[in-house]
This record gives sequence, C-alpha cells and structure tokens, in this order.
Amino acid sequence: MQGEVTVQGAKNSALPMMAATILCKGQCVLHNVPRLTDVWAASRILNRLGCNCHMEGNTVTIDGGAAQSWEIPDSDMRQMRSSIMFLGPILGRTGACTLSLPGGCELGPRPIDLHLEAMRRMGAAVAEEGERIRCCAKELHGAKIHLPFPSVGVSENVIMAATLAKGETVLTNAAREPEIIDLAAFLNQCGAKIRGAGESTVVIQGVEKLYPTSYTVMPDRIAAVTWLCAAAASKGSICVRGARPSDMEACLSVLEQAGCRLGICPDRIFLEASRPLRAVPEIRTMPHPGFPTDGQAILMALLATAAGTSVFEETIFESRYMHAGELLRMGANIRIFGRTAIVRGVPRLHGAAVAAQDLRGGAALAAAAAGAEGETVLRGLSHIDRGYEDLAGVFNNLGCQVRRISF
Ligand code: EPZ
Repeated sequence: MQGEVTVQGAKNSALPMMAATILCKGQCVLHNVPRLTDVWAASRILNRLGCNCHMEGNTVTIDGGAAQSWEIPDSDMRQMRSSIMFLGPILGRTGACTLSLPGGCELGPRPIDLHLEAMRRMGAAVAEEGERIRCCAKELHGAKIHLPFPSVGVSENVIMAATLAKGETVLTNAAREPEIIDLAAFLNQCGAKIRGAGESTVVIQGVEKLYPTSYTVMPDRIAAVTWLCAAAASKGSICVRGARPSDMEACLSVLEQAGCRLGICPDRIFLEASRPLRAVPEIRTMPHPGFPTDGQAILMALLATAAGTSVFEETIFESRYMHAGELLRMGANIRIFGRTAIVRGVPRLHGAAVAAQDLRGGAALAAAAAGAEGETVLRGLSHIDRGYEDLAGVFNNLGCQVRRISF
C-alpha cells in the first residue's frame, strides 16, 4: 500500500452527539458525520421519535424540538449497542423513556446495569418488564455518581442527562476518551455547563434550556489506526490526513515499538514500514489514555507477522478475540488463554476465506489481507459497514485490489 487518505469523522463521537440533539429545542447541524449503517440506525431512531433527521453528504440536520414520542421500538434498539445512548438525552429532556436492551457487536455480555443505576441516582424510577425497560422521573436532579468502571457509554449518558437536570452532578471515575470531550464541547456550545470532560471527574451544572448549534465531529482515531496498520502490514507507506495524534498516543507507541517509522504532525501522521517488524512483548487494553480495546484486533493482525512473540491482554470485553480464529486460517500462530492472546510472528500470512464476526475484527482481517500473499475472501461486510465509510475504496486508493461482491 502506498499513498494518502483523509480520515472519516468519529463514529463513537457522532452517535452520542446525534442522540444529544434531542436535548435541544431547535435544529442542530452536525458536520463530518461518517456515512455508516450505525448512523442510519441512529437516524431511524431520531425520525421514529419525530426529530426530522436528514443526512446530506457528511452533514446531518436534526430538529430535537420536533420530537413527539419517547419510546424506542425493540427492533431499533437491537440495531446497535449505541442505541442505549438515547436513554440519557430522552430522560434529560422529558423525564420518561421506554427502551429495551441494545444490540451491537457480540463482544461478550453487553449489560446496561451501570446505565440504569446512574439514572436511578438522578431520580429516575426504572422498571424492567421483560425485554422492555421503562424509565421515568418527575424531575431529574443532580447527583454524585461514582462509576465502578470508567464506562464510555455510561459517562456519556450521565453527562447528557445532567445537562438539564436540577442542580449539580459530579461524575467520578468517568471515562476519559476523546469522544467524551467532543460530546461535552458540542453540549457546551448548546449552552450546557460541563467542566472536566476528558478527566476522571466531570461536573455538570444543570441549565433550563439548550439551544441548537452547528458542530464538526472529531476525526475517527480507530479508523486512523486501521489505515496505519493496513499500510504497515503491506510493508508500505501512508499519510493519514486529518488524524489527531494526541488521541492515539498508545497505538502510535506500539507501532513505533514494532519498528514502524512515524512522522507526526498535529493534523496528519506519516508511516513507513519497509523494515521487518518486531514483536511487542505486552499490549494490555485499558480505558483511555491506555491502549484502546478497539485497536486490539487491528494491531494483532499487524503483529501476526512481527518477528518474536507479542502478548495481548483484553481487559475491557470478555470475548473480543473472535478474529484470532480467522487469522489462523491465514497462517497466523495465535493461542488464546482466556483474556490473553499469545501471538508468535510468522514470516507472512496467506490469503484465505475468512469471516468478520464484529466490527474491529473485520477491519483487522482486511488489514491482514492487505499484507497477505494471494487473495483473501472476506465475508461479513455488514459488520465493517457499521464503522467504516468505504474501506474497500480506501484500500483501492492505496494500491490494494479490493472488489465488493454480493453473495
Ligand atoms: C464504547 O462502548 C464504544 N462504542 C466501543 O466501541 C468501545 O469498545 C468501548 O466504548 C470501550 O472503549 C461507542 O462509543 C458507540 P463501555 P460502550 O461502557 O460504551 C461493561 C467500536 O468498535 N459495562 O465502556 O458500550 C461492558 O460490558 C465499539 O467502535 C457494564 O458492565 O463501552 C464492557 O465490558 C465496540 N455495564 C465495559 O463495561 C454497563 O452498564 C466497557 O464498556 C455498561 C458497560
């Protein structure tokens, strides 16, 4: 692979931000929204609520003020994990929300107990009736909420619900992901009073009303890592424009330890990987700013051909190694022991028929195929389309030969 690519807007910022527009009475405009099936799913939910969500290119307009319903059908909730993102804004805006368990990647159990507990702390009564969950609160009030785990989604739901709650909310052990900073910046631009986003303690002062605004979504750091790893796997070189290196320190450090040559600018990253790669002895997924779980599969695909033994420990999700079995079909040498993966580098992978089982696992298989000898047939593109605007197009522009065929 050789060339340059401009990175798409961040899926994991755009999705909560789309939900957050419900808090505003009026039309919000979001720019740099990636064209993904998860974004269509969020758009369907917003339109089901009556919010007139419309996407033109990478710009989404949403009129939260037009919403008339606060019940999300089970079919919509099952479309993706981030449908749980609607709980906080709907409760914050109206005090009542009916939804069911979200769908999404099978990365192990995806419980929502911490989401529901946080809403209870803010005064919501939560009734679980089979699959359906009814939340209601005469009036959400501020609360001190300490998270047992710095959950990204729970942190986002609390911040969104607290913007219109009565009084002050202090959220401790909050997630520190860059997408949370982006969400808070959007909400503060709407008139919210959020301090400390991106730190472990976030303080939200409830306000009476939020006003619509227009905002540009941050770049997708995991898509940027994906393009860097695909180029490195093919022993090529790449310039990833629009990436924000400050969001990606942990992944860039692993790429450097593996022997990739990096050129870092504030708004772009150069990578060159002509030298043989070397193993990275320990990679442990952690909440940000630690190594991101979303980068684990993608870096594993790269290190499958790095000389030596790399050891991964997946501490965030219970079952996020489904890609390992598929990499074995391509000639990788990987052993899984619970949450630990031992990756012994082989000289080169070979093409094979493989199947994506989840979003980032699918991206990992594509990155592996970019460096493999021969042709790879990759099924399960519906997983990849959840998070990448046009992976095949990006790969083709970088010199890889990719054809999408429907079976
Ligand atoms: C967000 O998921 C991201 N999704 C995920 O990205 C990412 O992998 C994850 O954060 C961790 O960084 C979006 O932002 C849309 P969590 P989220 O709540 O919010 C447990 C991708 O590939 N937990 O931080 O669901 C949970 O089971 C996706 O783009 C509870 O136990 O992640 C998991 O083990 C995949 N109870 C851990 O916390 C709860 O109520 C981390 O979950 C909530 C979470």
